Amino acid sequence: MTKQETFQLEFENHVKEGLTSFPKFLSSKYIYNERGDQLFQQIMNLPEYYLTNAEFNIISEHKEQLREQLHHPDGFDLIELGTGDGKKTKVLLQELVDHKIDVTYIPIDISQHAIDALTGSLKEIMPSLKVQGEQGMYFEVLKRLAQYDKRPKFIMVLGSNIGNFQHDEAIDFLSQLRAMMNSRDLLFMGFDQKKNPWMIQRAYADSQGVTQEFNRNLLHRINNEMEANFPVTSFEHWESYDPETGTAKSFLIATEACEVTLEKLNLTVSFKKWETIHCEISQKYDDDVVNWLANESGLNIVTIYEDSDHLFKDYLFNVKQ
Ligand code: AVJ
Repeated sequence: MTKQETFQLEFENHVKEGLTSFPKFLSSKYIYNERGDQLFQQIMNLPEYYLTNAEFNIISEHKEQLREQLHHPDGFDLIELGTGDGKKTKVLLQELVDHKIDVTYIPIDISQHAIDALTGSLKEIMPSLKVQGEQGMYFEVLKRLAQYDKRPKFIMVLGSNIGNFQHDEAIDFLSQLRAMMNSRDLLFMGFDQKKNPWMIQRAYADSQGVTQEFNRNLLHRINNEMEANFPVTSFEHWESYDPETGTAKSFLIATEACEVTLEKLNLTVSFKKWETIHCEISQKYDDDVVNWLANESGLNIVTIYEDSDHLFKDYLFNVKQ
């Protein structure tokens, strides 16, 4: 089976499970096809979505310090999980290229489209940089990462992507990363911080409805790829941030009762009026929680980087001795 076929089968099994469960759920990881990537791009440009600018600020303000922390006589491999358009990473890469650091940049993304776009643009703006893009899912790629052990690894996971995981899954993810790391390797990861709940609520319930279209893309994909007939506009986005747990939850809610047939899965599901589909969590953190997650995963916090508005943090980890 090709990677594509494996992914498709996994998607179908997930949809079958999620839509026959109570309460219903679907995972945001399946939002990201070409249109999903575009919509996320639009989200990152929304005035309410503060995360991207905050992390851009962190990298811009601390690029010298990072370059010095990364310095190694043999050079290193910079492995990035989940790249997007690479706007933030380019700031660090430019810093490394300007100082003639021997680095190979290995962007890894579930979307081949995203990798091709990034690789193409890097070829133009930093022709001397060695780039080796790889398409794949995080956990599949993590296994491949183990091969990169000739030089120190600097693993980056930006954008608070970890926030899509519940704590036990995050520990699992961090532990798997930890297992791929030697004592000299470093992990640099973004964690969006707890803050004024209104600010978080607004970031995920934007006034232009881009986040609604982003979530609805799940239903469009199911319609297109599983011969289904979701009345997409009858599903509205709802966001609920719980300041106690730090969990922002996204739902699609049926505004009318409907019956949906998924021909390819031989499945019919009915929705009551106001029935929910839980689509995503975007977890918010503080230092205590990140410290706990790191500890549980055999990692140790080396440095904490923060943006000037105190909205977001990137943590640099090494392996716990
Ligand atoms: C890509 C997971 C970091 O949770 O903030 C943005 C995805 N969802 N708006 C996030 C997302 C709704 C985003 N991550």
